[in-house]
Formats: sequence, C-alpha cells, structure tokens
Amino acid sequence: MVRLEFLKYMATLAAMWRVNPISGSSFVDPEITKADFGKDFIWGVATSAYQIEGAWNADGKGESVWDKFTSKPCNVKDKTNGNEAIDFYNRYTNDLKLLKSLNFKNFRFSFSWPRLLPEGTGKVNEKGVDFYNRLIDECLNLGIEPWVTLYHWDLPQKLDDRGGWTNRDIVNWFSEYTELCTKRFGDRVKHWMVLNEPAGFTTLGYLSGMHAPNQSSINKFLASIHHACLCQAEGGRIIRNNVENSHIGTTFSCSFTEPYKNFARHQLASRRLDVMLNRLFIEPSLGMGYPHEELPFLRKIEKYIQPGDHEKLKFEFDYIGIQNYFRVISKSSLIPFIWANRVKPGNEAEMTEMGWEVNPEGIYHIIKQFAKYPIKEIVVTENGAAFPDQLIEGKVHDVQRINFYKRYLQQILKAKNEGANVQGYFAWTFIDNFEWAEGFRPRFGLVYNDHKTQERIVKDSGLWWQEFLK
Ligand code: NOJ
Repeated sequence: MVRLEFLKYMATLAAMWRVNPISGSSFVDPEITKADFGKDFIWGVATSAYQIEGAWNADGKGESVWDKFTSKPCNVKDKTNGNEAIDFYNRYTNDLKLLKSLNFKNFRFSFSWPRLLPEGTGKVNEKGVDFYNRLIDECLNLGIEPWVTLYHWDLPQKLDDRGGWTNRDIVNWFSEYTELCTKRFGDRVKHWMVLNEPAGFTTLGYLSGMHAPNQSSINKFLASIHHACLCQAEGGRIIRNNVENSHIGTTFSCSFTEPYKNFARHQLASRRLDVMLNRLFIEPSLGMGYPHEELPFLRKIEKYIQPGDHEKLKFEFDYIGIQNYFRVISKSSLIPFIWANRVKPGNEAEMTEMGWEVNPEGIYHIIKQFAKYPIKEIVVTENGAAFPDQLIEGKVHDVQRINFYKRYLQQILKAKNEGANVQGYFAWTFIDNFEWAEGFRPRFGLVYNDHKTQERIVKDSGLWWQEFLK
C-alpha cells in the first residue's frame, strides 16, 4: 500500500514536467512598459549548456550524466538527445547577434563542467576554456553582459561513477571546478549563479529518477540535498574570493503553494509542499537550518551533517534567483514522507504545453514570500512557457506567449512597486531547445528553431520583446 502511494507520488512529481496537449487561451492586455521597471532593471534571456550547445564529444569534452542518460532513448519522451542540441557551440556568433537585435543586453548561460574538466577534476580541457573565452568575449564585444551559471545539471559522468551528489567529496570536486571557472573567466564575468534549481536536480535526479542520473532513493535524495547546500555556499565563497566586483547569486525553482480547500489538513499539505518546493535550499543558506518541522523525514538529513557544517551552509548572496513556472494547489494525501499531493487546477484553467497552469498571480505571491527573507536582491532568473507553436509561412504567431509575458511582468511589477527588491528578469528561453526528459517537443523559445536544419526564426513573442525593450 505504502509502496503504491509512493509510486503515485513519483507519478505526480513526474507530471510537473509532463507535456499535456491542452492549451486554452485568454487574451488580456495589461499595458506595461520597460520604463515602469526603472532604468537600471536587468533584462535578459536564460539558457543552459546541455540544452543548447550540442558538440557533446567535440574538442575533448567529457561525458556528462545527461549524455549517458539520453543514450538510452527510452529515458526521453521523444527519444531524442542533446548530442547536437541546437548547435550553439558552432552557431553562437550569429545567435548572439540575433539576441542583440532583439534588444536584450544580458545573456544567461551555463558552463559545462565536463567540457572544462572532462574527468570532473584534474586535467583541464583547454579547448573548452577557449570556447567559453570566445563566447564571453563575443558577448562583451556586442555589449551583452554575461550571466553565468556554474552548475545547470550536466555533472561529469566520471563524478557520477563516484556517487555524484550523494558523495560528500563533491564539495571538493565542485570547489576545484569553481576555482577554475573563476580564475579563467572572472576577469570578465561579474554576474555568477552557483546552482540552477537544486530542488530540481536532487528531486528529479535522486528521488523520482525522471532525470539523470536516474536514481530513486530517499537516502540518496537526502544526501544530495545536503551536499548541494554545502556546494551552494562554498561556491559563493570561492567566487567572492577570486572575482573582483562580483555579483553572486544562486537560483531556486519556486512555486506558490495554496491549499485545495481551507481545511486544516490541506493547509498542512500546502505547508509541506512549500517546504519541499520553496524553503529547503534557501533556508540553510540564511543560517535557518533545514526546515523539517512539518516534514519529519527531513530530519534524516542530520546523518549527513558533520560538525561545523551549519556554519558552512551559510553564505550571504548578493541576489537570489527566482525561477517560476506554475503554482501548486495542495491536498493532504497518504503518500509516505510527504503526506501531500498536487491537485490539478479546474478545467477553466489555461495550461501550457507542459501541463503547467498559467497563473501570473503565483509569481507575485512567491516574490512577496521570498522578499520576507533577509535577502538583498531578487532577480527572476527564469520564467516562460511552452506552447504548441506553428510555423506558418515563415512566421510563428505565438500570441499566448506574448500574453503570458505581459501578464507575468505585470505581477512582477506589482510586487516590485509594493517594495520587493526585484532587480531583473530573464525570459526562459532565447531559442527553442532540448527540454530534458521531454525532448525537443516543448518549445519555450522567443525564437523558433527548425530542429532539422537549425534555422532560427524569430517568433512574434521575440518581436514583442524587441519592441518592449526598444
Ligand atoms: C527550469 C530549468 O532550469 C530549465 O533548464 C528548464 O528548461 C526550464 N525550467 C523549463 O522546464
């Protein structure tokens, strides 16, 4: 029984990332302008190495956990992989020009750890270093500010062979990698993000097994949480030490949680999911420890904690990156450990192609929630939507996506005007790319990619941004 419920929970977790063909549309047109956000507000697009670069084994790159995971076609819905992805490795020059033409002045990308350190530690792949040097220099030549993520899920396979995030040695491996990146690129890169969505890669990678490295164990999950939190803080310290005038952040996936009905048990369920989705990774960094009062199973993290760790978990980030895609409606359930589950929104809800509810108010609430923490600054480091785009006579009229952006921006502005210190916004994503276990089908881009020819076609939403940022 318990096992069955646990499996059901896994299925629900998986459903958060599942493609769902429903897509309603409600046209709203709240007028906002760039000026409403202030002249120093940061506007950018976000990407990640595995999802765009391709060149998976070119120029000395080592294998990543995603290379291995996708080599089994059944792991990805459409049986594709990121071996070529959108060939950004070879096309970055033109892509950056295209980005500039859309009037974006900030570009978020990640370093591929196995491209720089094919074995995870030890010998540096100078050709990988050259690639990122060229990419950074090209950004700066074009007046585009690079915002880099150190870890966006593509762990070197060699490190996974040694336990990956479940092995405490990862703190040393990650430190070595961070030292390398900061020393080689820190003269030109000032904006850093340590981890991308630790809740994402620990839950999907070590609990549900839906993502690389395809593990499904509570103990591995708990160990990976603690080691990710240690790396999060240690990475911050290394950047601060090595990079002059650095602006250091880390990013969290977050979803405002609400009870399905106002009964005490659903309210409790909502608080439990709030811990899992929103609080687990930020609170240790603020010196608040792991939030286990509502979820006793999290106390088991204790067994991975060593003397002195509570201090090591703390780091004062310059900004916190918030990544929001949906809200969560919560209900009490018999699912072991969590005792909570998600409820699907009603039929009237507008859904994206991922099966995620379009709920602009959710980003307002989650920003307000995060703004209560003692943090300096918030940057929305990802927000966007996949819709079933149609390329018709060389155009993509993605009006739903334009509405999505307008409505979300309006809610961010509302939170900002009410005092939340939001300083920037990055749209996910620039060009359609490889959406992890979903493959190429979900299209999140402002630019359409013909995945056969690698031709880039600006969607109407890209043109909308061009105009908005003018
Ligand atoms: C969050 C992840 O950081 C990114 O890699 C992913 O593509 C988007 N969410 C959309 O699912």
